[in-house]
Amino acid sequence: MVMGGYDDFRVRIAASRVLVVGDVMLDRYWFGDVERISPEAPVPVVHVSRTDERPGGAANVARNAASLGAQVTLLSVVGDDEPGRILERLLKSNGVRPVFQIDAGFPTIVKLRVISRQQQLLRIDFETPPGDAILEAKMAKYESLIPDVDVVILSDYGKGGLTHIARMIELAKSRGKPVLVDPKGEDFSKYRGATLLTPNRAEFRQVVGRWSNEAEFGAKAHALRQQLDLAGLLVTRSEEGMTLFLENATHHTPTLVREVFDVSGAGDTVIATLGAMIAAGADLPTATRVANQAAGIVVGKLGTAVVLPEEFRG
Ligand SMILES: Nc1ncnc2c1ncn2[C@@H]1O[C@H](COP(=O)(O)OP(=O)(O)OP(=O)(O)O)[C@@H](O)[C@H]1O
Ligand SMILES: [Mg+2]
Repeated sequence: MVMGGYDDFRVRIAASRVLVVGDVMLDRYWFGDVERISPEAPVPVVHVSRTDERPGGAANVARNAASLGAQVTLLSVVGDDEPGRILERLLKSNGVRPVFQIDAGFPTIVKLRVISRQQQLLRIDFETPPGDAILEAKMAKYESLIPDVDVVILSDYGKGGLTHIARMIELAKSRGKPVLVDPKGEDFSKYRGATLLTPNRAEFRQVVGRWSNEAEFGAKAHALRQQLDLAGLLVTRSEEGMTLFLENATHHTPTLVREVFDVSGAGDTVIATLGAMIAAGADLPTATRVANQAAGIVVGKLGTAVVLPEEFRG
């Protein structure tokens, strides 16, 4: 095991292979001015003058790991449509190898925001859970990719792409690969046996209930870690930083933020950094320290963003 910061792992990260699996989505932004109310209904008419498109969900995790220098493969389901092709192109240009299972009966998940004068007027979501046949094909592909990776990141956005997550964890473990999971929902039993689970405060609370002090929080976390047979449980706590629970230790890391601009996607950056660090041989406390640093950098940027290697020195 090697202690240290990002720079001490940089060379090994470049040689490490990370597999990201999960729900990908295309984050779309339409910007424009409102000059009138529609004659058709009492709603504003936005004249779109600029658009932006970014990889979201598991795709954002993948591009964050690639930005740190890891060799990243992203396995996911997309539709046979324009958003799917845009995602593929954006990922490739970000250095990620997309392995997409294309389901003609499934629209690629899109979150479209309509924004006028820095204000979001409307968000439109296109999402349908993927079908069983494509999920089985994805599982088979997963099995074939596993031997050639050093770490697996399962990014669960609750959109149905990780229906077989229990099998995925089991398979990775049986091949000796660490599995990191960013969870969603009320039932964490499907994550049993993962190496590390990274719920945020709200996700953790949803599963263990409320706590009234730090001791109670710690007791609940240790109990959950043990119950789910995890090597580690990392609760990310927004402005309170993050706390890592291991079998015989607790490591709390306060946030390192100078200025918070936009917290969206911070959780993606955290699990991506953990994945790259663990693939490079870092232990969980070291990986967590660097992930916390990365989170502190990314919340200072607008929109879902990535951390660049040189920013760890700033
Ligand atoms: N308001 C904040 N102030 C300081 N640091 C923050 C803030 N929000 C997030 N962070 C940093 O980012 C990390 C992850 O954030 P958080 O716990 O909110 O995850 P998350 O809810 O999964 O994020 P998201 O779902 O938006 O990607 C925190 O542990 C912390 O280091
Ligand atoms: Mg999150």
